Amino acid sequence: VKKGNGVKGLTEMELESLPKQYVQPPEERMDMNSVVGEESIPVIDMSKWDDPKVADSICDAAEKWGFFQVINHGVPIGVLENVKEATHRFFGLPAEEKRKYTKECSPTNNVRYGTSFSPQAERSLEWKDYLSLFYKSENEASAFWPPECKDETLEYMKRSEPVIRQLLEALMRRMNVKEIDQTKASLLMGSKRINLNYYPICPNPELTVGVGRHSDVSTLTFLLQDDVGGLYVRRFDGDGWVHVPPITGSLVINVGDALQIMSNGRYKSVEHRVVANESKNRISVPIFVNPSPSDIIGPLPEVLESGEKAVYKQVLYSDYVKHFFRKAHDGKKTVDFAK
Ligand code: SIN
Ligand code: FE2
Repeated sequence: VKKGNGVKGLTEMELESLPKQYVQPPEERMDMNSVVGEESIPVIDMSKWDDPKVADSICDAAEKWGFFQVINHGVPIGVLENVKEATHRFFGLPAEEKRKYTKECSPTNNVRYGTSFSPQAERSLEWKDYLSLFYKSENEASAFWPPECKDETLEYMKRSEPVIRQLLEALMRRMNVKEIDQTKASLLMGSKRINLNYYPICPNPELTVGVGRHSDVSTLTFLLQDDVGGLYVRRFDGDGWVHVPPITGSLVINVGDALQIMSNGRYKSVEHRVVANESKNRISVPIFVNPSPSDIIGPLPEVLESGEKAVYKQVLYSDYVKHFFRKAHDGKKTVDFAK
C-alpha cells in the first residue's frame, strides 16, 4: 500500500473488500437497529433573534440534546458552498501535493493532512482522511495553509464569528455570566481549528466507521456537512441514536467537553459518530471553537455561585487535548480526565 495518500488513495486502487485494518470490532460498528427514526435534534431558526424564545430554545437544546441545527444564521450560503468546493479541490489534488502537509513533511504543526484519528493508537482504523488547520492568525494562515482552500476556509471562519459570539452569549446568560470579557473570551473561544473531512466511498461500510463514537473536546463545534448524511448522535437518555439530516444552508452545532465542564454538566457534550457510505464520497467541515491551550478550565464561578458542588476539577486545556489524541476514540471517556 502506497503511504501518505490516505483512504482516498486506497479506494483509487479499486478495492473489492475492506482492508483488514479497517474492520472494526462488532461493538463499534453502527447497529442500524439502534437508530430512532421518528426523532432528531432541534432545528432552530435564528432569523428572529430579538425574540428571547430563540435563545431559550438554543439553551434548552444544549441542555437536553447537546446538539442542534441552526438555519438563517447569517453565514451566506455562497460562503458555505465555496468551502465545500474547496474541500473537494484539496482532496482531489495528486498524492504528492497532499503529502506536503503530512506529519513528516508539513512546515508547521498547525497544518496537518492525515487519515483516521490517531492511527498509532488505534487497533482498527477509521475510514476518513482529513486536513486539520489550527487558526493562529490570518498572517500565519496565509503563509502556511494550502492555497487550494485557504481563502474559502478563512472567509468561512470570519463569517461564522458573529454566530459563534451570539450563541455563546446566549448560552452564558443562562449560566449567570452577563458579559463575555477578555478572560471569558479566551476560555470560550481563545483558539480555533477547522478540519476538512473526506469520507471516501467504502466497499463494506457496515464493517467499519467513518468516525468512531466520541465527544468533542471543544467549547462548541460548528459543522458544515454536505447532502450525503451519515452523522448520528446519541439520544439524550442514552437510548439509541438519531440521524442528523442534511439541510442545505444549515450548520450543525454541538456542545463539546470544555463547555460541559465549564457549565458543571448542565450543557451536554454528546457522543456522536459517522458511518461510511457505499455509494457516495462525503465531506464535512467542522470549526472547533476551543479555549486557549494555556487556559485552565473548570466549572465557572458563576455556575457554582449558588452553592452547587463542582463535578469537575480544574485542568490545563492543552493537557486535556493531549489526553484526547493519545488514544483511539472512546465515546465519552475523555471527560474522566477532569474528574
Ligand atoms: C466528527 O464529529 O468528527 C465529524 C462529524 C461529521 O463528519 O459529520
Ligand atoms: Fe466530533
